[in-house]
Amino acid sequence: MKQVLRLTVNGEDYELLSAPNRTLLDVLRDDLGLTGSKKGCDSGECGACTVLLDGLPILACITLAFEVEGKRIDTIEGIARGGRISPLQKAFIEHGAIQCGFCTPGMVLSASALLRSSPAPTVEDIKRSISGNLCRCTGYLKIVEAIHSAAQETSRKSAATQTGNSEGS
Ligand code: FES
Ligand code: FES
Repeated sequence: MKQVLRLTVNGEDYELLSAPNRTLLDVLRDDLGLTGSKKGCDSGECGACTVLLDGLPILACITLAFEVEGKRIDTIEGIARGGRISPLQKAFIEHGAIQCGFCTPGMVLSASALLRSSPAPTVEDIKRSISGNLCRCTGYLKIVEAIHSAAQETSRKSAATQTGNSEGS
């Protein structure tokens, strides 16, 4: 029997009727129309369905929607704000890391969680952060380069801001 499900996705509150056995991925894609989270294996193996739950990556295909009521969910649709892509998404484009694009939303979300917790990650940190996100295209080199470059760009900007602030004070 369907029950009332309340979700907060990309800062928006949703209320809908849902069967208790629906996965978060199916609710996001089929009920909320947020199709950026991809359905690859649908069994917790590929990472294509990665979303952030209170800032940490989870697999939406093996998470029940009712399990995440009251928590903050971010999908790829929430990463670009006001029609502008994030620096991480820009780096993916500039480094040719999009490839076929199917794994990309999950990769971007795993990487954005890493960069939030560790603004200056090593290449090993980056590889570990996307180790649950499988790419079937030409490999991970460009993806790792893109994440590394986004981290460097962000720390350059924050160093420039700090210098500007201290010069202005
Ligand atoms: Fe969820 Fe593959 S679709 S891990
Ligand atoms: Fe095609 Fe990764 S870009 S699966």
